[in-house]
Amino acid sequence: MKPNNLESLWMPFTPNKTFKKDPRIIVGAKDMHFISDDGRNILDATAGLWCVNAGHGRKKIQDAVYNQIGELDYSPPFQFGHPKQFELANRLVEIFPEEMNHVFFSNSGSEAVDSALKIALAYQRARGKASKTRLIGRERGYHGVGFGGISVGGMVKNRMYFGSMLSGVDHLRHTHNPELNAFSKGLPEYGAELANDLERLVQLHDASTIAAVIVEPIAGSTGVLPPPKGYLKKLRELCTKHDILLIFDEVISAFGRMGTPTAAEFFDVTPDIICCAKALTNATIPMGATVVQDHIYNSMMDHADAPIELFHGYTYSGHPVACAAALASLDIYKEEGLFESAVESAKYMQEVAHSLKGTKNVIDIRNMGLIAAVEIEAREGAIGSRGFEAMKKAWELGVMIRANGDTIAFSPPLIVKNEQIDEMFETTKKAIESLN
Ligand SMILES: Cc1ncc(COP(=O)(O)O)c(C=O)c1O
Repeated sequence: MKPNNLESLWMPFTPNKTFKKDPRIIVGAKDMHFISDDGRNILDATAGLWCVNAGHGRKKIQDAVYNQIGELDYSPPFQFGHPKQFELANRLVEIFPEEMNHVFFSNSGSEAVDSALKIALAYQRARGKASKTRLIGRERGYHGVGFGGISVGGMVKNRMYFGSMLSGVDHLRHTHNPELNAFSKGLPEYGAELANDLERLVQLHDASTIAAVIVEPIAGSTGVLPPPKGYLKKLRELCTKHDILLIFDEVISAFGRMGTPTAAEFFDVTPDIICCAKALTNATIPMGATVVQDHIYNSMMDHADAPIELFHGYTYSGHPVACAAALASLDIYKEEGLFESAVESAKYMQEVAHSLKGTKNVIDIRNMGLIAAVEIEAREGAIGSRGFEAMKKAWELGVMIRANGDTIAFSPPLIVKNEQIDEMFETTKKAIESLN
């Protein structure tokens, strides 16, 4: 089943040379499992890349996609509309926080983020605050791979190779504090005051130059960092005080990961803009969405200085097939009560994850919603090597986990059963114990 030449493909975020010597090839997937090319069932402890929230191979989505291609395979999104993109926008605003009533479609999380940043800048200009151009991200943030996303992002390897990126960007301090918060169950106790770091940046740049702050409500790709208790509320207050937009990057947290449609609802903190993607279509068809509050959309409609209010869009914005997949996914989430069942599974997963405390080399365990992380101590001079080897070992043992450096992240589909949670962590424990 292995392709006979692996060289033509340049794989993303993958050590190509190492992978091609010892490839891991996936040929199928159903419900909670991948099928490897040697015919093994591999338990999916990561919902792919935090995205297959309803589990794999869902017939309802398959049928919706198939039928949509027959009915309307494509229509141009500039100057023309098709019914499903309006329907989907309506369905999304029904489940997003109350004031968030307008949706701009794209094709990925990175594009949803770049769209949010561009909307923030265009909005400030439209309402007569054209000096507000600075974008504030956070250290250890991940906002995809566009130049906007890496500029506000705060992961060094994603930035250091790519020149000067966007100008006029600054970063809040990250919130990770293992000295005080290691092995916290749920939200860490200490660190809400780190939101005050925005005051430092306001002192430095002045609020009249700052358009927006973007953060992940829970940082994922940097190794699962739940926000300290009270941090997001404080950040919201400061953004409001200084007339700065707050953007939540919910590419991994939207659609049930917290047991709610968005993390904004979970934290009871409403940002001005939410970016989402991934589970929007259960990952079957690429799609991103940037959802904004009324005041942003209305301001653009009333004050933009050209007939086209926003000079931005993608050939595949609101693609009919992606819309069909998203509508079917939203149906499944609702009909099967998956956001609600995620709440129960999250409680169970918290206890099972924390039972790995005391395992060789484990230095921290973190969790929030249906997300958990087990951090192992880095080898001296070889950061990430233990994480990578643990991932490979778990694959051999039949479980797909994800290593972000030396942090192993778990974000299973919301359909996960308790015995599968047991299997995820038992296998991970074995994998970690096998490492030197
Ligand atoms: C928080 C966050 N933002 C943006 C992205 C980028 O999404 P995509 O890979 O679909 O461009 C990701 C991907 O993992 C993410 O976790």
